[in-house]
Amino acid sequence: MADKLIIFDTTLRDGEQSPGASMTRDEKLRIARQLERLKVDVIEAGFAASSNGDFDAVQLIANNIKDSTVCSLARANDRDISRAAEALKGAQQARIHTFIATSALHMEKKLRMTPDQVFEQAKQSVRFARNLVSDIEFSPEDGYRSDVDFLCRVIEAVIHEGATTINVPDTVGYAIPELYGNFIKTLRERIPNSDKAIWSVHCHNDLGMAVANSLAGVKIGGARQVECTINGLGERAGNCSLEEVVMAVKTRKDYFGLELGIDTHHILAASRMVSQTTGFVVQPNKAVVGANAFAHASGIHQDGVLKARDTYEIMRAEDVGWTANKIVLGKLSGRNAFKQRLQELGVQMESEVDVNAAFARFKELADRKSEIFDEDILALVSDESVTHVKEQYGFVSLSQHSETGERPTASIVFTVDGLEVKGASEGNGPVDASLKAIETHVKSGAEMVLYSVNAISGSTESQGEVTVRLQNSGRVVNGVGSDPDIVVASAKAYLSALNKLHSKADRVAAQG
Ligand code: KIV
Ligand code: ZN
Repeated sequence: MADKLIIFDTTLRDGEQSPGASMTRDEKLRIARQLERLKVDVIEAGFAASSNGDFDAVQLIANNIKDSTVCSLARANDRDISRAAEALKGAQQARIHTFIATSALHMEKKLRMTPDQVFEQAKQSVRFARNLVSDIEFSPEDGYRSDVDFLCRVIEAVIHEGATTINVPDTVGYAIPELYGNFIKTLRERIPNSDKAIWSVHCHNDLGMAVANSLAGVKIGGARQVECTINGLGERAGNCSLEEVVMAVKTRKDYFGLELGIDTHHILAASRMVSQTTGFVVQPNKAVVGANAFAHASGIHQDGVLKARDTYEIMRAEDVGWTANKIVLGKLSGRNAFKQRLQELGVQMESEVDVNAAFARFKELADRKSEIFDEDILALVSDESVTHVKEQYGFVSLSQHSETGERPTASIVFTVDGLEVKGASEGNGPVDASLKAIETHVKSGAEMVLYSVNAISGSTESQGEVTVRLQNSGRVVNGVGSDPDIVVASAKAYLSALNKLHSKADRVAAQG
């Protein structure tokens, strides 16, 4: 029996640290449920001590997820660790992940602690955590840039105190595959009790090598846990991408010889859910989940694939959840057919009320768009009117006028705390006019730092999916909206971003 590679997903913690990617408690629970369907081994649900909002999210996930271990991050101090343990009380399988920086640079400049102080704090924290939960992960932050002798001393001590997983972060994405793999190997060879813990890799993507480094940590270093995020979401250039690392290990089982618990059929739905929730669009040429990942445009490739699939395909698109871009439902489809399609797509609604809300949105869409694709269904179930989260602003209706040579105008009706308001404006284009019409009332003072439009199913008949990123007083949020009319989609995305901007969710930087 081959060794198992543990997949530790940190989309909801390290992924969420990406500016603009913050999620509400309910959004996090939906993603956690999708990760459970994917059969992820460990879900890092958040950083319980960082804010009340994060505590609640970790607690909610711990109380609802049964098949995956639920983990909370905690700095190496008693308060953080106690908060993590408290939030995880309801979990079937709980893990505390405690960390402290060990590189000379971080210890001196950030922590202002001596190596001996860090050593003692690491030891004490693991001892304290071990009395609360039996599954303890320890991370020496900036581990890859740490002095190897010091790192060996710290890791040996925390394993002795009961750490069950040792994670070696390349916090700043500085590693090179061969060097990182050998670094893990050296640590495992030099630390006398290294066989008492599972070794884990955690790589950031600043040089575009997070997946390669993680795989080298597994192959050369002997790590048996990979920390990763859906779509590689994460601060700066992101984290190691779950879908890439999983498909590499699965496709090249001949080389890695490792078992995975992941049900890869749910990968695409997870990717879409994360992208639609956070507003981080997946690039078309992204491996595994990008729109072009399995599209053969060149004649030679198409001809080859038609004759024998494996001429140009190393993975089966169906294995990661791609279905042919076919019409799945239409105007006359009933509630049962709709519900069944949701199930086939791996979308689990919380209640029959949610199914009804989604079905009402589906009918509304089918009145305007004759062919409904899977992509449309996935977009509409992420719509706020379906997730029925009580939001401050809601879209009602919009009309706009544009003509060559004239300045476009728009008037919009939207709700503010349930009450309808109207706004009208002109602008450089119809989208600009519509968003300015919203601002005549809201006066948010926010700066738009990103606006992007994407055709959900790839043609002009498709729904447009718009992402808007707003920034105000140091806070960055993303809003996403979809509609067959891209001006309406833009207004919805803008209102969704304003909802996030004005929500009270506070977050503390995990490494602060
Ligand atoms: O990148 C990092 O060092 C981290 C740790 C908190 C594990 O995310
Ligand atoms: Zn990280």
